[in-house]
Amino acid sequence: MVGKMRFSPIEAVSDTALSAAADALKRGELVSFPTETVYGLGGDATSNAAVAKIYAAKGRPQFNPLIAHCPDLARAKEQGVFNADAEALAAQFWPGPLTLVVPKRADASVCDLVTAGLESVALRVPANPVARQLLEKTGRPVAAPSANLSGKVSPTTARHVAEHLADKVAAILDGGACAVGLESTIVGCLDGKVYLLRPGGVPREALEAVLGRPLDLWAQNPENPNAPGQLTSHYAPNARMRLDAKHVCEGEGLLAFGPVAAGERERAAFVLNLSETGDLQEAATRLFACLRQLDETGVAAIAVQPVPTNGLGEAINDRLLRAAAPRP
Ligand code: TXA
Ligand code: MG
Repeated sequence: MVGKMRFSPIEAVSDTALSAAADALKRGELVSFPTETVYGLGGDATSNAAVAKIYAAKGRPQFNPLIAHCPDLARAKEQGVFNADAEALAAQFWPGPLTLVVPKRADASVCDLVTAGLESVALRVPANPVARQLLEKTGRPVAAPSANLSGKVSPTTARHVAEHLADKVAAILDGGACAVGLESTIVGCLDGKVYLLRPGGVPREALEAVLGRPLDLWAQNPENPNAPGQLTSHYAPNARMRLDAKHVCEGEGLLAFGPVAAGERERAAFVLNLSETGDLQEAATRLFACLRQLDETGVAAIAVQPVPTNGLGEAINDRLLRAAAPRP
């Protein structure tokens, strides 16, 4: 067969591969690495040139700031100012799927492009061992958005990353499928308030239990540059999505949650189930992979069964809403 042999940047994890990836980051190249949430597209957070490559590779609007990943709390504190709330949340949830937005330190080493010029900085200490070893070896904060093209579904395997970004990265470290499957929860600890900026892998209830009070309300406004630059349509599959569907219409695909009645199953073009037993954690880990699979079927419309809004359900519903939002 005559075909173009394509170089695959996917690499099994080894000490050599980790060192080579850390060296590539220090040279200003991009490396994709697994975290417990989704795969990240990493670049040296102290280099405007490296971070510019991230924005270019993703086709990402420059006003959307990035998360700087650090190997531990001490290193995170070199970048941002932690008040008592931030300390308490970091102590409980780091390493793990939580990002803290705190005031940027005057002597922070993260470059302006990471914060998109804001006076706050988003910091995260991931739990995934591959991510932690890479950060440790790199010795600098690593900026990493999810490793997908802007507006597309976030990757939870190395193969997902390779599909869109193979030619943009020095390496994709293969850490298997992501354990959480949804992005980190983003919490702003600013001006004495604690805001939920993006629901994610740590549920609201768990945050409030540590704080001993409810989270403060954040006025959502996508035009406000101080709000997380979350575009309304995001995580978009090509098919039209109909949320909270009680019934399937003829020809629609069904994205189910929990048991599916026989009649619905018959009408559906096909059924994908986030969790047959109605388990939110399982649904979170399967969500993005299911959205991809739905796209591969080429179906035009998808009915999505209701997903409860407690615990990880808040983040799942947030991603489904964005996937269903009108396209720009
Ligand atoms: O799980 C995750 O958080 C993954 C993995 C790779 O760590 N990363 C991720 O990054 O989801 P990204 O770039 O897709 O999402 C970062 C979010 C954006 O919505 C951005 O607007 C917000 O963080 N953000 C970053 N800095 C901020 C700041 N200073 N103030 C408010 N929001 C900020
Ligand atoms: Mg993303």
